[in-house]
Amino acid sequence: MTPTSSCGTTLIRVLVLTVFLIVILIPGHVFAQASRGQSRLAPTYLRTEYAVNPLGIDAARPHLSWLILAESRGAMQTAYQIQVASAPGTLSAGEGLIWDTGKVLSDRSVHVAFEGPELASRQRCYWRVRVWDEHDNETDWSEQAFWEMGLLATTDWRAEWISSDTEENAELSQPARMYRREFKLDGPVRSARIYATSLGLYEIELNGEVVGDQVFTPGWTSYNHRLQYQVFDVTNYVIRGENAIGVTVGDGWYRGFLAFRGNRNLYGDYGALLLQLHVTYEDGQEEVVASDESWNTATGPILMSDIYNGETYDARREQPGWSSADFHATDWLGVRIVEHPKDILVASEGPPVRRIEEIKPVEIITTPDGDTVFDFGQNMVGRIRMNIRGPAGTTVTLRHAEVLDKYGNFYTDNLRAAKQTVKYTLRGDGLEVYEPRFTFQGFRFVAVDGWPGDPSLDHLTGVVIHSDMPKTGFFETSDPLLNQLQHNIVWGQKGNFLDVPTDCPQRDERLGWTGDAQVFARTAAFNMDVASFFSKWLKDLAADQDENGSIPWVVPDVLGRGGAAAWADAGVIIPWTMYLVYGDRRMLETQYPSMKAWVEYMRRQAGEDRIWTEDFTFGDWLAYSTNEPGYPGATTGKDFVSTAYFAHSADLLQRAAVVLGKTEDAAMYAGLVEEIKAAFNLEFVTRTARVSENTQTAYTLALAFDLLPDSLRRMAADRLAADIRGRDNHLTTGFVGTPDLCHTLSRFNHLDVAYDLLYQDTYPSWLYPVKRGATTIWERWDGIKPDSTFQDAGMNSFNHYAYGAIGDWMYRVVAGIEIDPENPGYKHVLIQPRPGKDLSYVRSSIESMYGTIASYWELAAGRFKLTVRIPPNTSATVRLPGAVLEEVLESGISVGSAPGIRSSRQVRGAVVVESGSGHYVFTYPTDQAREGGAE
Ligand code: BGC
Repeated sequence: MTPTSSCGTTLIRVLVLTVFLIVILIPGHVFAQASRGQSRLAPTYLRTEYAVNPLGIDAARPHLSWLILAESRGAMQTAYQIQVASAPGTLSAGEGLIWDTGKVLSDRSVHVAFEGPELASRQRCYWRVRVWDEHDNETDWSEQAFWEMGLLATTDWRAEWISSDTEENAELSQPARMYRREFKLDGPVRSARIYATSLGLYEIELNGEVVGDQVFTPGWTSYNHRLQYQVFDVTNYVIRGENAIGVTVGDGWYRGFLAFRGNRNLYGDYGALLLQLHVTYEDGQEEVVASDESWNTATGPILMSDIYNGETYDARREQPGWSSADFHATDWLGVRIVEHPKDILVASEGPPVRRIEEIKPVEIITTPDGDTVFDFGQNMVGRIRMNIRGPAGTTVTLRHAEVLDKYGNFYTDNLRAAKQTVKYTLRGDGLEVYEPRFTFQGFRFVAVDGWPGDPSLDHLTGVVIHSDMPKTGFFETSDPLLNQLQHNIVWGQKGNFLDVPTDCPQRDERLGWTGDAQVFARTAAFNMDVASFFSKWLKDLAADQDENGSIPWVVPDVLGRGGAAAWADAGVIIPWTMYLVYGDRRMLETQYPSMKAWVEYMRRQAGEDRIWTEDFTFGDWLAYSTNEPGYPGATTGKDFVSTAYFAHSADLLQRAAVVLGKTEDAAMYAGLVEEIKAAFNLEFVTRTARVSENTQTAYTLALAFDLLPDSLRRMAADRLAADIRGRDNHLTTGFVGTPDLCHTLSRFNHLDVAYDLLYQDTYPSWLYPVKRGATTIWERWDGIKPDSTFQDAGMNSFNHYAYGAIGDWMYRVVAGIEIDPENPGYKHVLIQPRPGKDLSYVRSSIESMYGTIASYWELAAGRFKLTVRIPPNTSATVRLPGAVLEEVLESGISVGSAPGIRSSRQVRGAVVVESGSGHYVFTYPTDQAREGGAE
């Protein structure tokens, strides 16, 4: 058995390794219950608003969460105490507290809202927690953590928006603007912070050094309603005496090319900067340096930067030392103050975008057309860093592509108008290292032109960039093709979670398509911690929602169109999903008005008969279509899809209303759901469970959304299974039907069919692209057709996560890690693996809010072995497929008498075990585990 490698931050990695060493290597039952006295629990990994020690938050009542380490089985928190102070020293002395909960009898260890006095702008709070275990023994205090507030009021912004005064042709990409100012600090500095944002993308330098490691700041939001600012701790960048600050601002999403067809300047046609530096001297005095008319501006080496098109950089135009105090800013111009609202400024919420990893090229190819092409072996998103030497004035061009065509030539037609081209002109003074700043590319292949001499593998490095979401999921099986599929799903996520969830990262699109995000959100939440990523995006969704409740096709909305079923439903489905995964009720509270407005919009559109027709919708986007005579393709009627989603969202809304205690709404929407279901069955379903249009998607939606009466479900599921069997185990579903297809089969007694679909490797299937060498998920089942030609270049991305939604089924059914909706956030864990096909083992784990949950199973020599790990302060129901109660051992002893096991019982062909936290190893003889335990 290997340790889980599924954690993001170093801290979590250390924690997991410790738990692994303690729990996996030592049989569970050797741990006696903790004796009375000092508890063996330990609260650790303190997080505020999903982050460790965040700077600059604006939540009025920040949520505090901690993780509990414990060696013993059945470890529970029965009480906690939180203390908060505004100075570090006072906390450890237990003095000067601004909030002390005292001992609170509660097993709550996640999302405890701060309820101390109102927090002020820039206030820093230190906090610690201790807990009591199931024997009322108390732990030591945790290590101290902190959070720091941002600028909470518009009036806190003393800075002015500044821009350049130069005439620009707004139709074209503009050179990046540099802004600078010198300032003097008169004494030793205790702390210094920069609060900054821009219209366009920015990068700050202080005294010659780039500040922080975030890229693509200020991120992408619904800029007209919500513009994020960032906070940087620059205490170590400033010095007593003369200092200088320099900021470069590029076009970015704000005014660069965006939303295809040559559109640009979607938010505005000039760039601008808003920045203030707060310095606190050792003696407590404060000083503020802010953007105002005293700043200067110039252009420099970045002649062009654009999200889609790349960057053009002339190193001869660099101005060495421009962000240092001894620079002579001769020729620099003054700035102008521009009017731009400040009441739209919000603290950054999602995980910062960073350079996450590096990839070295594996091969240099000369194509039949004569191009010199670097192959990075992985379709990735980010950019190239190059090391180069050569004569001044030499220009090197890098073009980026996802694939080579069937002849082995560099293929860029599927990028449409996006140029993805980087041009670098050398200074010519030795080794030059260059990486573009305000652009990203989606690519596996890089064509190099104009390189001085022969380029070699160590000249280029692929820098992978995405939102820095801690990795939370691990999934590995005995089948290498499934492992590659999982790899491709994860890389689809890496490539498309760059501050917003995008459809694709390479062509002239890269937009926050709501439908794609909706189908992939749950899978995403297995692989990485996406809580704050989606919480931020959902606020943009609500901000861009029309007054009539319609939700845009893309968020941030740059298309001005909305109201499409299955796409707009992201506004209901994603908050509900995040609530389930993270147990964060606030996510529902915040989004509730938006969720409700969308359902009400559908109610109006559908009208009294509850069948939603007429409005534009994408339907089962990219479903199987064919020119075969006799088969019309798998088109599912749009009114069918729309009405099914209407019912589904109304159902989720009523569940949200129940959670939030909105009893009237809950009753009203429960009634609405029944009305829609009745109308749906009347309109689309026959007495023998024939669902209109007879497509796999139609059956899947009807079953997955519980739209059919009980009496028809089995029959409908059989029809679905028969359709798949009749197509030689192939799916025909598009974006809408695919995510729930295998779930529906395994839920309704056709686990074998679901596995046959998963294992299918001819087109259309998940493994077909894998067999064709894919390293990410493709937009279309046949992006590269069986004859090696490409699908229509107008829409053929090789990095589109939507079909990666099968990952959800792999974690929840193949590995069997499931949520109990009554106890969300994995407070009560369900472990219910369902082995199938000829898999001999699966190892999977996730990092939940409570800690590591693992399900490792293996089948060998007629014995099934399931190793599970349940985090402290949770409980679990473990379902052992194909087991007979008397034969089940846990760590070598009869399951009924194993410590930590609360009960075990035979339920048809499975044994169901209730347990507390801990590490358990179940073994039993079976031949039946594979097909065991259909619902
Ligand atoms: C995008 C999608 C999106 C679709 C909507 C495409 O251009 O790439 O993934 O959902 O349009 O029709």
